[in-house]
Amino acid sequence: MRTYEEDYLLSIENPAAFWQQRQSDIEWFNAPTKTLSQDGNGSWRWYEDGTLNSCWLAVDRHIEGGRGDATALIYDSPPTESIATLTFNELGERVRKVAGGMRQMGVLKGDRVVIYLPMIPEAIVAMLACARLGAIHSVVFGGFAARELALRIDDAEPKLLLTASCGIEFDKVIAYKPLVDEALRLASHSVENVVVKQRQQCEAEMTPNRDLDWDRWERESPDAEVVEVNALDPLYILYTSGTTGRPKGVVRDNGGHAVALAYSMNAVYGVDEGDVFWAASDVGWVVGHSYIVYGPLFKGCTTILFEGKPVRTPDAGTFWRVIADHGVKTFFVAPTAFRAIKKEDPHCSLLRQYDISSLEYLFVAGERCDAPTWHWLNDHLSVPVIDHWWQTETGWSICANMAGYGLKEMKPGSLTLPVPGYDVRILTDEGVEAPPNVDGNVVVAPPLPPGALPTIWRDHDRFEASYWSAFPGFYATGDGGFRDEEGYVYVMGRTDDVMNVAGHRLSTGQIEEAVASHPAIAECAVVGIRDSEKGQVPIGLVLLKDGMNIAQDVLERELIQMVRKEVGPFTNFKRCVVVKRLPKTRSGKILRQVMRKMVDGDAFTAPSTIDDPEILNEIREDLTEAGLIGSAI
Ligand code: COA
Ligand code: AMP
Repeated sequence: MRTYEEDYLLSIENPAAFWQQRQSDIEWFNAPTKTLSQDGNGSWRWYEDGTLNSCWLAVDRHIEGGRGDATALIYDSPPTESIATLTFNELGERVRKVAGGMRQMGVLKGDRVVIYLPMIPEAIVAMLACARLGAIHSVVFGGFAARELALRIDDAEPKLLLTASCGIEFDKVIAYKPLVDEALRLASHSVENVVVKQRQQCEAEMTPNRDLDWDRWERESPDAEVVEVNALDPLYILYTSGTTGRPKGVVRDNGGHAVALAYSMNAVYGVDEGDVFWAASDVGWVVGHSYIVYGPLFKGCTTILFEGKPVRTPDAGTFWRVIADHGVKTFFVAPTAFRAIKKEDPHCSLLRQYDISSLEYLFVAGERCDAPTWHWLNDHLSVPVIDHWWQTETGWSICANMAGYGLKEMKPGSLTLPVPGYDVRILTDEGVEAPPNVDGNVVVAPPLPPGALPTIWRDHDRFEASYWSAFPGFYATGDGGFRDEEGYVYVMGRTDDVMNVAGHRLSTGQIEEAVASHPAIAECAVVGIRDSEKGQVPIGLVLLKDGMNIAQDVLERELIQMVRKEVGPFTNFKRCVVVKRLPKTRSGKILRQVMRKMVDGDAFTAPSTIDDPEILNEIREDLTEAGLIGSAI
């Protein structure tokens, strides 16, 4: 067996040779002869002339290989008190029909399909059905409000939208259809068809000549066979938050994605065909795409689709129950979920009710794993707790302690080492390599490995500007951190205006747009401040228009409602403070990082470009008066 060191070195010194060896981890229709090349934009691309189909790899291949009766998917839904399993045969039947229904509606290779579904099997069936046809899916997280859905519809221009009558949040039924109708009203692009999965908990009103009932549609559709696609053809677009209010459509191609995920399943997560793998995320996020859907299914694992929460569905022992009931080997979740469990069950006493001996690894990601949570997990579990780091852009982990090579020594707070394919460097703001243990900007030297984004949907200039301009010649991750003398990587947080709220990525600009649309607001800044439960939460600092006379509590209530309605409730936007002025640079850039550090009590230096240093004293007074400095909210 090859060691991590051998593979890592080869992947950096000769990326093409390393990834050529890995290409046989999947089955191709036509195996690629060119491993690494550059496209017309100058982006590095993988397996240019290979052809494949991602749905075939996830489903049909296992059926043809004699594993049709193996369990592909376990749907475990505490709020509806149901558990259902689908074998690869059963999943295949559903996917063929749904793909057939889409094809009858004229969905062809390259067409976009927006999926706005809760955590029900239809979400996975829909994604795979798109992949089967070579159509490009764009899944939108169910927590996003109508306006955010509309923005994505206008950017992706889908032919079809797939949704359900509702999602369930704890015991609340959230009607989806009114949000979809509102989004379609707001969007300039018109969608020809909407297919609605009617759930028992809520009946959606249908729009004649546009909306179809999912069950009937699926039942009456013919089967669709797989469409051969090129390795570089997009599999999906997943919108993520950048530093502005406009989301970025991260493009994922078929070939590199399949190879990278197939490799990662064993190399990173230590699982093989037949193992049970559970990522407790949402299909609307990248973790859901990669490790609820594609990764485990490519590998022939059983994947779990969990429509519940770590707590109150029904209690803080629910994770342990799922692991015990389904024999989970590797579990992947965001630390915020354990902070919620720890709050309700501080001594982890509910764990004693379950036999979780099947569990071998616990992986966490999505946000920095704080020391108290890491220690709590280590105190109560007998399996390794592995923090690993990645982003929507990369689609799989950049740094990890890789189970498949044998675990390295753990260092609390560290992500361990870069995964083969990622040449991680730490650069100072001036762009020179930082010495060990000195904080800097975490960047990756090209080529990015297979699976990582080659572009932004229909906006390659934004791709260049967002990722390749800050440190020319390097991919800027947007994260800050350092490496120690043994090369262990530590990621400490974003260096830009992206926030991480309960493992959900949000941009300050997104919330600012909603706040600024209030008639009383002249100007505003949103800042993500530290929060013991959610990691970060946004707060608003607002300037009123001259002559506006509105009580602080009334304004705060109205702004909170606006943000929930315009962006979504999962923003956790709950505080807003009226200030006299906002600190800015002379060129007008608001100094959000400075205000964030001020509230968090971290050391900061005002940049030399600050317009008027006196504003910092003023803003400190405003924030102190609002109780935001010197006390947690
Ligand atoms: N649809 C509709 N509303 C949603 C939603 C969804 N999919 N997800 C969250 N919301 C709502 C919640 O109901 C809540 O509404 P409320 O203010 O009316 O009570 C609000 O958004 C805040 O949600 P959240 O911050 O997620 O808190 P929570 O108490 O609902 O759940 C956790 C806490 C820890 C369970 C949840 O944040 C979580 O699972 N986070 C992990 C995210 C993740 O997996 N990220 C991927 C990286 S691994
Ligand atoms: P997303 O694109 O939603 O997956 O969010 C990616 C961002 O989440 C990264 O850029 C980091 O800021 C943060 N993140 C993800 N995993 C970790 C981790 N293990 N440690 C620290 N930050 C993380």
